Amino acid sequence: MIVGRLTTPDAGALYFLRDELRSEFLAEAKDCKTSVRQISKNIYFSAAGTRQFWVLDYWPVMRINFTSVAHAAKELRRIAKRWMYVGGENFRRGQLIADALKIKKRGLLQFPVESMAAGVGAHAFTLADKETLLFTSNPLKQSYAGGVARFHEDRTGPPSRAYLKLYEALTLMGLNPAAHDVVLDLGATPGGWSYVAAELGARVLMVDRAKPDENLFRKFSRLEFKMGDGLNPPAEWLQSATYILSDMACEPAKLFASVETWLRLPRVQTIVCTLKFHGVSDKGLIRRFAQIQGSEIYHLWHNGHELTWVWRR
Ligand SMILES: C[S@@+](CC[C@H](N)C(=O)[O-])C[C@H]1O[C@@H](n2cnc3c(N)ncnc32)[C@H](O)[C@@H]1O
Repeated sequence: MIVGRLTTPDAGALYFLRDELRSEFLAEAKDCKTSVRQISKNIYFSAAGTRQFWVLDYWPVMRINFTSVAHAAKELRRIAKRWMYVGGENFRRGQLIADALKIKKRGLLQFPVESMAAGVGAHAFTLADKETLLFTSNPLKQSYAGGVARFHEDRTGPPSRAYLKLYEALTLMGLNPAAHDVVLDLGATPGGWSYVAAELGARVLMVDRAKPDENLFRKFSRLEFKMGDGLNPPAEWLQSATYILSDMACEPAKLFASVETWLRLPRVQTIVCTLKFHGVSDKGLIRRFAQIQGSEIYHLWHNGHELTWVWRR
């Protein structure tokens, strides 16, 4: 339990978003009847604390009032040893607090990323104003609080930049397919996601209506391609899969119906699907995906007008 003279519990929630999706975020807040207040260019606060999906990160937050940089650092140190600072308003003052806490600057991530040791909490803060800290011990994106995830890029291997979405989703989930896994990649062409799975050693079955990059088959012997409809793959392709991935350019409502059947497959342990929207997204449908037990929805740093739905058995 956090005890602090100046700590106010239940302050509310913070939402981190990107410029291009501000209208989605605000429409979602309206839909949830959540009143949000902008506290920084891309950070919003709500006293109600409702979870929203069109955000790079979501934090239940508490508040500390402070009088000096040393005071802020002292209060934070009382709460936890390790902190992340995500920038925001009053950046220079925030950075001085980060320096006092000896927070290291984040470098580029090298995929596959080792997951954080169990039991290490993820604490992060930003400044609401010169004398108010907002902090969390439970950011949605945990070690990637704030939602920015930049990787060392592989510019020669994968045939499309879509691979970065899968790098990020797997990193957030803290798991990767391995040699014993069978990955069914639906809507796989040209092959960025399949490249990632095959490079990790998994057997990969690619499905698409269009042919993938042929170079992939020269590099990976455990990779196969089948031409077909990824929304209705034959049972024999589904039955052996331990991972189902879908980056299909398709209606999320149609994908939902397919996902419901995939959840019943006995061998599947993990599903990762991109939900792609044209025009304003269907918030009710997003909530239906979110309600599937064992699942989470992320708006990834590498997503466009998309959300990424992940499920683990
Ligand atoms: C964004 S691309 C996928 C990129 C891929 N993940 C990568 O890393 O290279 C979307 C793909 O979905 C495929 N697609 C759309 N609807 C499909 C369907 N019903 N069945 C199979 N493939 C589909 C398209 O042909 C296209 O190749």
